[in-house]
Amino acid sequence: MKRCVFLGLGHYVPERRVTNQELTALMETTDEWIVERTGIRQRYWVPHEMGGSELAEHAAREALARAGLEPGDIDCIILATLSPEHTFPGTACFLQARLGIPGIPAVDIRNQCSGFIYGLSIADAWIRAGQYRRILLVGAEVHSTGLDISTRGRDVACLFGDAAAVAVLGADDGGERGVLSTHLHADGRFAKALWIEAPGSRFHPLRISHQMLDEGRHFPKMNGRQVFTAAAQRMPEVIRECLKANGLTIDDVALLVPHQANQRITELVARQLGIPMERVASNIERYGNTTAASIPLCLYEAERDGRLRPGDLVVLASFGAGFTWASAAVRW
Ligand code: UT7
Repeated sequence: MKRCVFLGLGHYVPERRVTNQELTALMETTDEWIVERTGIRQRYWVPHEMGGSELAEHAAREALARAGLEPGDIDCIILATLSPEHTFPGTACFLQARLGIPGIPAVDIRNQCSGFIYGLSIADAWIRAGQYRRILLVGAEVHSTGLDISTRGRDVACLFGDAAAVAVLGADDGGERGVLSTHLHADGRFAKALWIEAPGSRFHPLRISHQMLDEGRHFPKMNGRQVFTAAAQRMPEVIRECLKANGLTIDDVALLVPHQANQRITELVARQLGIPMERVASNIERYGNTTAASIPLCLYEAERDGRLRPGDLVVLASFGAGFTWASAAVRW
């Protein structure tokens, strides 16, 4: 059976490291509050004009090198982001131009923190169907230019960081390795629990007005408690769904890679599933929430640090805006 396998991973974070202490100069907050409520100690912000495609290019070139491939070996790009470089065209097109590989499809997907797993599901289906053999799957976010970096926006601004991480996916004919399953969910009734309202094509006569800017309606807004509660419920649920579909138990999982939204959510999920934290990936302390980049960034570090070895079973899980939530099982 043809399977979708991970051939190489890459990552990129901008140089500018922003500690919690630095945030205290920009808003009423404290290092203690942020660490205690979220587990985050620092994040990275782009230093100057730098879009998601630039972050993604660095990450993609590293992933390709680790896979022993050239950009020209790729036959499709799927890029997950909630922070597109421009309204249109998609950031995948800008990345494709940077990589110098015209002609192949360049697809943007908009599934927020679940973007990487949604993209993996699409890539897996295309690879198993034989439509494409080598897909660049990208999670890339520039949050920092979109945050309300003030006391008004402190609940959200302290959480997010900029980063890109990339997986080169390929077809493996007949082996045991690769994606075993993906499970995707969404519930649009909660679309406004975590969202950016404007600019929006439903506003007349213009997508954004001076008044909307004054009211801060172009900044992300979140009902933190509601998102927290739903994440802590949906992530264990979708992981159990994944294990059941594959006839596995939590003891079979060598590494659980949850989306990095909040260390308290990660610990609650682990406790509900009965998996020790030694087998749960966590790097939110250093990067904050990097949305679509968070899962591949964890995978990159886990593989680099020898926590992910060939033959290991890894389970990925996400929850985010939409609401969207998802899981995937991968034999590494
Ligand atoms: O990746 C997408 C998914 N996102 C998530 O999963 C995030 C889920 N939500 C969370 O992680 C948490 O809800 C937060 C970390 C955002 C907030 O933590 P919380 O324990 O739910 O705090 P809260 O929203 O109930 O706020 C408690 C207090 C409030 O003050 P009052 O009303 O009690 O006086 C907030 O105004 O903390 C205040 N607060 C802050 N204080 C200092 C909110 N943000 C900050 C801040 N610094 N940065």
